[in-house]
Amino acid sequence: MLLGVNIDHVATLRNARGGVEPDTIKAAEICELNGATSITTHLREDRRHIKDKDVRTLIHTLKTNLNLEMAVTDEMQQIALEIKPHSVCLVPEKRQEITTEGGLDVAGQLEKITNFVKPLVDAGILVSLFIDPDENQVRASAKTGAQFIEMHTGQYSEKFGTNEEETEFLKLKNSAALAQSLGLKVNAGHGLNYENVKRMHEIPGLYELNIGHSIISRAVFTGLAQAVKDMKELVK
Ligand code: PXP
Repeated sequence: MLLGVNIDHVATLRNARGGVEPDTIKAAEICELNGATSITTHLREDRRHIKDKDVRTLIHTLKTNLNLEMAVTDEMQQIALEIKPHSVCLVPEKRQEITTEGGLDVAGQLEKITNFVKPLVDAGILVSLFIDPDENQVRASAKTGAQFIEMHTGQYSEKFGTNEEETEFLKLKNSAALAQSLGLKVNAGHGLNYENVKRMHEIPGLYELNIGHSIISRAVFTGLAQAVKDMKELVK
């Protein structure tokens, strides 16, 4: 299983001060040097974390693959066709949400999504659809021409450790099997952390996990001791 690291939260921290620290490009480089097989960024309509400049720089600096998460809008399609990331992941986007809530309704807008996917695939970009682990959504996704789905693991993550965990886990396992039988490759992500990620090995053939928040959160603690020591050295 491959690991894509989502660096949006590094950009969120940078934007809190409006400067250049922490540097998203450096963050991506560290992720790659330590085993990330792709770097994921979500260029949101409101540019609340990752900005156009980040994406346009990353496309040149990355040694691995850029996975661009984006909404189904003309603006985003144009950007993707221009910069040609290795892959795009189409996500639903609401301005007020804190993070991506729920999967893309592919079944309810099959024609729109199919038309949106075609030019991207024709341009050689791998297209993934971020969907809930739901049979209808999987079947619809297989009709769009997209090569991948990314299963939304938010519900599984939320219910992890409760008596609803198994139900949510089985939705993921069954959806992955169905998608694979329909010729789709299967990624997963959202809310995965150092505990709940372990069960992803029970899903045969999962291709890549995209993980952000738990990794960046842990980095604060694995890096804080050294950061204080370095400053103490300069201050004493
Ligand atoms: N995959 C998709 C499609 C997402 O929208 C997100 C959140 O931006 C992630 C993966 C990563 O989720 P998290 O930050 O909770 O690990």
